[in-house]
Amino acid sequence: MPDAAPVLAALSSCIQCKLHRDELAQVAVTEVAKALPQAGWVGVYWLHGDTLELGPYVGPATEHTRIPVGTGVCGTAVAEDKDQVVPDVRARENYLACSARTRSEIVVLIRSNGKVVGQLDLDSDQVDAFGKDDHGFLRMVAGAVGNLLPMMPSGVSADDSAAPKAE
Ligand code: SME
Repeated sequence: MPDAAPVLAALSSCIQCKLHRDELAQVAVTEVAKALPQAGWVGVYWLHGDTLELGPYVGPATEHTRIPVGTGVCGTAVAEDKDQVVPDVRARENYLACSARTRSEIVVLIRSNGKVVGQLDLDSDQVDAFGKDDHGFLRMVAGAVGNLLPMMPSGVSADDSAAPKAE
């Protein structure tokens, strides 16, 4: 399993700096992209009502900046309240393509105070790029993000898109 300790330490330091939650997410996606080089795209989607909205990401720009709950792999994760591991996206009917080269995808839900508030989404050009260890690592990262969110200046609310940036 990739070493989660440096990632968790980097996330915890966000609290001391009183960063905004998107800055916390930026640290998460940057560290995850370093730890899982098989991922060509790593991003966070935040849940706002019944729509997932793209937050910070590492990789090429995507047209899927807003995804309704229940749509695509990302929206299915929320609708089913379940992480999604897709070894080959060509076998998944409701897959929303960000890149024609993507072969596998993993979506790990971010929960805060027991409520789904967002997700980590990773794409790879390799088939079956994300194993059980990678899933476990991502669950730790998502867990840390979810636990730290209530301590951020912008709070944890899924409806705080208008929250001011940290000073
Ligand atoms: N493939 C996702 C859409 C997001 S992109 O991968 C960045 C889906 O099917 O929901």
